[in-house]
Amino acid sequence: MKRLWLVAAAVAVPIFLAVAMIGGQQTPESGGDAEAAQPDDLSQPIQFPHNTHAGQWLIDCQYCHFSAERSVDAGIPPVATCIGCHQVGIIDGRTNPEEINKVREYHDSGTPIPWRRIYKVSDHVNFPHFRHVAAGVECQTCHGEVQEMGVLEEVAPEAGNLKMGWCVSCHLERGASRDCTVCHY
Ligand code: HEC
Ligand code: HEC
Ligand code: HEC
Ligand code: HEC
Ligand code: HEC
Repeated sequence: MKRLWLVAAAVAVPIFLAVAMIGGQQTPESGGDAEAAQPDDLSQPIQFPHNTHAGQWLIDCQYCHFSAERSVDAGIPPVATCIGCHQVGIIDGRTNPEEINKVREYHDSGTPIPWRRIYKVSDHVNFPHFRHVAAGVECQTCHGEVQEMGVLEEVAPEAGNLKMGWCVSCHLERGASRDCTVCHY
């Protein structure tokens, strides 16, 4: 447990800083009304197509979500990862070039892209990606056929994905631990 805490802390600090920076930068221009309207808006700041990247171009999930095999969090790629391919003149985008321009604007201004989080368990739950990757559980088992999704959506939230029963029934099926303290801090 101690080691998981350390990993979690190491990952949490930069994320916290990034969030704090975005928060700090947004406060001046976004008034109370704009902020209150946001929770209803389920769109992402950039229309990122998983089907194009992971389906059509077969880019490996872990090329972008590169901490999945060694950390608690799978991680969202920094804008520098995008720019490697989307620098002017490399891959400009044939159907949605204006979305690629947004990527460049975030990069040039040094602003992290404020992606909206989709999958999230409560803070009292420990979900280590690396343990699942090591055990050979495929990303698609939990996140669905992501390589076919133009807009990424949470799989079966109404069926209780991310609820305790979902975790425990797979752990029972695959002989993984059902000890309360393994999943709860
Ligand atoms: C390994 C190369 C690679 C990386 C890394 C990459 N992309 Fe792409 N991206 C592509 C390719 C190839 C296309 C398809 C372009 C086309 O069909 O014109 C594409 C298309 C897109 C499109 C749609 C544009 C269109 O006209 O269809 C968007 C938006 C996009 N990428 C955003 C991103 C973002 C954001 C990141 C970083 C999280 C990223 N890309 C990382 C290769 C990459
Ligand atoms: C080119 C980079 C890239 C590749 C390749 C890629 N992703 Fe992503 N992924 C992203 C970005 C950027 C986001 C945030 C935007 C979004 O949610 O669409 C994201 C979001 C996600 C999320 C939701 C995260 C959250 O907020 O809860 C999941 C799950 C996910 N990806 C799984 C996958 C899987 C599975 C694959 C392989 C089939 C894959 N991704 C391939 C860049 C990538
Ligand atoms: C056993 C189920 C399971 C598997 C397998 C799985 N995930 Fe996840 N994923 C989750 C859960 C649960 C969360 C929410 C975790 C949290 O809130 O701490 C999540 C969150 C995420 C996120 C959000 C951001 C983050 O850093 O956690 C991304 C991105 C993601 N997963 C990508 C992937 C990719 C890519 C793979 C395959 C390499 C994968 N996941 C395999 C269950 C799974
Ligand atoms: C599709 C099957 C599946 C689902 C769904 C799943 N897990 Fe797992 N989980 C596994 C497997 C397999 C292992 C690896 C067991 C091993 O390494 O011996 C594992 C390992 C773990 C571990 C490490 C256990 C240990 O002994 O240290 C934790 C913690 C964990 N899972 C939490 C969760 C949580 C929380 C959820 C739900 C949000 C979840 N898992 C959903 C299959 C799953
Ligand atoms: C395999 C992982 C796992 C195991 C084992 C596990 N839990 Fe949970 N537990 C979860 C998840 C995931 C949630 C839902 C969190 C959320 O809603 O985001 C949860 C939620 C809860 C809640 C909050 C109430 C609720 O239903 O949301 C309590 C209390 C709880 N668990 C107690 C326990 C106890 C006691 C044990 C041991 C008998 C246990 N858990 C074992 C993963 C697990």
